Amino acid sequence: MGILAKRSKDKNIIDTVFTMVKKASDAKVKYGEDNVIDVTIGALCDENGKFTIFDSVSEVYKNLDKMDIAPYAESFIGNNDYLREIKSWVLGKHEEKFSVGAIATPGGSGSVSSTLKNILDPEETLLIPNIGWGPYKIMAKEHDLKIETYELFNEKDEFNIESFRKKSSEIMKSQGKVLAIINDPCHNPTGYSMSGSEWESIVEVMNDLSEDGNYILLNDIAYIDYAVKGYEESRKYMERFTDLSPKNLVVFSFSCSKTLTKYGLRVGGSVFISNEEKNVDEYMRANEFTCRGIWSNVPKGGMKLFSTIQSDEILRDKLTKERDSYVKLLEKRSKIFLEEAYEAGLEVYPYKEGFFITLKIEDKKISESLEKLNRENIYPIQVAHGIRIAICGSPSKKLEGLAKKIKKIIG
Ligand SMILES: Cc1ncc(COP(=O)(O)O)c(C=O)c1O
Repeated sequence: MGILAKRSKDKNIIDTVFTMVKKASDAKVKYGEDNVIDVTIGALCDENGKFTIFDSVSEVYKNLDKMDIAPYAESFIGNNDYLREIKSWVLGKHEEKFSVGAIATPGGSGSVSSTLKNILDPEETLLIPNIGWGPYKIMAKEHDLKIETYELFNEKDEFNIESFRKKSSEIMKSQGKVLAIINDPCHNPTGYSMSGSEWESIVEVMNDLSEDGNYILLNDIAYIDYAVKGYEESRKYMERFTDLSPKNLVVFSFSCSKTLTKYGLRVGGSVFISNEEKNVDEYMRANEFTCRGIWSNVPKGGMKLFSTIQSDEILRDKLTKERDSYVKLLEKRSKIFLEEAYEAGLEVYPYKEGFFITLKIEDKKISESLEKLNRENIYPIQVAHGIRIAICGSPSKKLEGLAKKIKKIIG
């Protein structure tokens, strides 16, 4: 028998990130900081390699009233002003075009996980990209779901809409419902962002398949505030959802982790839209139960922090300005790496913006390439079908010459 439930017996996190982070820090002790290139760090750091904490956010948090932090939240689904502000921040001027619901969740992770739980039954299949954030698979296992993957890119390095349609259609045929995850913009780990016409094709697939059942799309927008084109433009594609069939629901998984650089506060949310109010009401009812049944409520101070900043034009502008300086920094770092990669013939997935660049490496060569890089004191992270270079955590000077060096080492 044993102490574990049957479904928990084979739960086992293989943490490739932790192992590599440890190797990098051991190397720094042994060889000195300057002689190690550590591109494992998935958090934003400044040009001195220091963890970024936005002053415009810390100041507000420091001045919150004790009563804004210590008590429970106003309700299981979150504080009212927080829910109002995340709807408005996530959807912008598109908010009034749809039926809209929102709940606060512990980070973006809580949003993704509760969506899997409330949309799919155990043994049903979740559709995710073949290259993507690792925890999607862990969360699927947590909810006893199966996984199917669509190819993220076609041979032209564009979003592979054919694969997305084919896999969606197979799942719709077999289970009469589809839940698919997209992580846009600033896809983790490739840095891809979809174009307006790629989004249009997604809506087309959702509508075509909704003849046979409900199509639910989860867009993980953890990095939306790092899109180079800015607030309005990065939300422009949402306009296309006005064409969605009433059988569709779109869930945006929002996270304050990157938006405020407050990873440890554990504040995020699901903002969900549909052209049929009943879908939003049903989804809300189930999620309210999940909030109470799993985490009870989200830290009040984190919610207050976000709503205080977003509802005040001056505070909001200050934060936007500070964050934008990091968007520019990421642009600068990506240019350094990508221009050299191009010159050296080092293949990368189609990066547009965001925290990570991923090298295209044949699966059978990934371990060998990592070993070779480690031997030269370069520490990146293994991901599905590639090797991730975290430009977010690495000062520009450490990125200079890196692509050429990598090409020389791995061939
Ligand atoms: C792609 C992606 N989605 C969601 C998250 C959610 O993070 P959190 O739960 O801290 O909001 C992360 C954080 O690393 C991420 O990279």
